[in-house]
Amino acid sequence: MGKATAMPIVNFVKEKKEIEVPEGANLRSEAIKAGINLNQGLNGMGASINRYINCKGMGMCGTCRVLITAGMENTNKLTLREWLKFKTVIPTPVPDPIPAMAYVGHEDTMRLACCTTVHGDIEVESCPEINLFGENFFS
Ligand code: FES
Repeated sequence: MGKATAMPIVNFVKEKKEIEVPEGANLRSEAIKAGINLNQGLNGMGASINRYINCKGMGMCGTCRVLITAGMENTNKLTLREWLKFKTVIPTPVPDPIPAMAYVGHEDTMRLACCTTVHGDIEVESCPEINLFGENFFS
């Protein structure tokens, strides 16, 4: 009953939290509403540094990266920004080669939450453990 109007369910596996979101909702916005911070920052280094690592959803900083562990087909296609961030290997000066490596093996599940819209049930693993000093940290 009422199946047709069922809203997509986002399951945040680490937080053990399931939320219903409107069709087409922005993953980062919904996470914030649910009290889940996908821009975790640098483990306690806190607000003073957040402005450098959180672009507030513009698809620039890469700190809202998540893994879509199930239901990737229920999201929008990889955006250009994400594609550039995840799929291209741009030679970078030392000491930066490590962040680029962090994507290896996750290219097919990793998304930027702020660039992801939800169109069906998905499972999200927040803040994959990779080098948070990403390629934009000092730029
Ligand atoms: S919040 Fe900066 S890339 Fe998503």
